[in-house]
Amino acid sequence: GLAASGTPLTGGATAASSFAAPSLTILYGSQTGNAKALAQQFKAKADAANYHNKLVSMADFKPRQLKNETHLVVFVSTHGEGDAPDDAMELHEFLGGKKAPKLPSLKYAVLSLGDSSYEFFCQTGKDFDSRLAALGAKAICARADCDVDYEQQATSWSEKLIASLKEELVDAAQPTAAATAAVPASAVASQYNKHHPFSASLIESIKITGRDSVKDIRHVEISLEDSGLTYEPGDALGVWFTNAPALVDEFVSLLSLDGESQVTVKGDSMTLRQALSEKLELTLSYPGFVNAYQDYIKSSALQSLMEERATFRTYLSERQLIDIVREHPGKIEAQQLVDALRPLSPRLYSIASSQAEVEDEVHLTVGHVDYMAFGQRHQGGASGFLSERVEEGQEVKVFIEKNNHFNLPQSDDTPIIMVGPGTGIAPFRAFMQERDARGATGKNWLFFGNPHFTQDFLYQVEWQGYKKSGLLTNITLAFSRDQKEKIYVQHRLMEHGKEVFDWLEAGAHFYVCGDAMHMAKDVEGALLHIVEKFGDKTEQEAKEYVLALRKAKRYQKDVY
Ligand code: 2AM
Repeated sequence: GLAASGTPLTGGATAASSFAAPSLTILYGSQTGNAKALAQQFKAKADAANYHNKLVSMADFKPRQLKNETHLVVFVSTHGEGDAPDDAMELHEFLGGKKAPKLPSLKYAVLSLGDSSYEFFCQTGKDFDSRLAALGAKAICARADCDVDYEQQATSWSEKLIASLKEELVDAAQPTAAATAAVPASAVASQYNKHHPFSASLIESIKITGRDSVKDIRHVEISLEDSGLTYEPGDALGVWFTNAPALVDEFVSLLSLDGESQVTVKGDSMTLRQALSEKLELTLSYPGFVNAYQDYIKSSALQSLMEERATFRTYLSERQLIDIVREHPGKIEAQQLVDALRPLSPRLYSIASSQAEVEDEVHLTVGHVDYMAFGQRHQGGASGFLSERVEEGQEVKVFIEKNNHFNLPQSDDTPIIMVGPGTGIAPFRAFMQERDARGATGKNWLFFGNPHFTQDFLYQVEWQGYKKSGLLTNITLAFSRDQKEKIYVQHRLMEHGKEVFDWLEAGAHFYVCGDAMHMAKDVEGALLHIVEKFGDKTEQEAKEYVLALRKAKRYQKDVY
């Protein structure tokens, strides 16, 4: 049900640049679909303005075609540690490489999507911008770096750009039959989405780590009954939540505010307390808040902290917003605080169930963030909500977030290797439920890790059942703290390197889910090492082998 993507590009179809009539190419690189949706909206505006244009996925764009372009608008997102989306990888590399052509007659604009709580915020968009500029292309307008609440900024950027393209394109616009006939089929709006979530009810939320575990991991079941919502293994559930009342109270009292004072959030009037509970991000810290907050409180201590860029990054990463306010309270009005905070954003959880098994339920595996720091209790926003603040039978607002980059192989005969330590196990429970229900015959190998066998073997009984029934061919465990030296999933992968390589050679898909910062990187290192050693390849050849796996969608990551 997605909009038509315009005319796909074919290598030699366009006239050489010096003769080409100005025309607009809208390119997108999208992992979760947000950048694609923005590009589609931009195309609709360009169509309405009668600009000759086409919309192309970076995956379908021939890099060599670049030199024939006159006007390029790029929508691209960034993931994990500054990574490009899969469909943008090739073009991203090409632009930074030796084969990239000079582009003196190209005009371009870049909109990047990202999450400012990550270090490499909008990195892929920044790269596109700087690489195009380095090749001699001219920016039509400044790049927009959009945070998780990107909608407004993206819309106003798009509107301005459409307006400024007018003199460049409108005179030259030759409304060809093809361009005007290609009316994009509007995306079939499902009834519920991010901004119109379904009010589901919580079936249960139970702790599945042992009483002596260092971790508090919950199995959460939510009812989608009567919603008409459907999902597939690999998809995520978006969860809206309210902030903890104690946290809201502390903000109010530290800043000597009145919770009942009236404020406005996006044009709606409400009390400060309601705004802080339901509308604003109060947990994750990010530089934008500190900048805005400091503008009001003008603390010299906070100022000097902010000037030490490297230590400030660490300072932020170790704190929630409340810690910053606690350490630097100041004079700020209710509306100013509201304006300094960014809108609450829902959290995405990889779904841990298959509808083939659980029908109108959806299951999650939630790591409850709950720790002491600076003498105070700290809780995660959504994980605290799902673990403690919502009771069975109460409302949870949810929506489905499709993930087209993490799915089971098309064929039920294809073998799969799943690497999912900690809560990274979630989508693999969905995979196994699905393959079980389908009677899939492909081999399945699970690598799971966690601190202790007795405390942290998530869904142990289920895995043992699948092993017994033969659905699970292999299960390899890495309990990191059951012995003196740490043992992690990547160590187990290497121990079984020969067999892992044989599976890959037999066409296996390789999946990784869980921690992006350390685990996924180390697992990729192990994968490269295995291919080098057991494939008898050089380091470079191993890299190419793994890159080819990625491009063939046989190496998929769902990491956070
Ligand atoms: P640890 O906490 O004992 O160090 C799930 O969180 C599991 O992943 C835990 O057993 C954790 O071990 C382990 N882990 C921590 N760092 C890791 C890394 N870099 N690679 C793989 N697993 C890691």
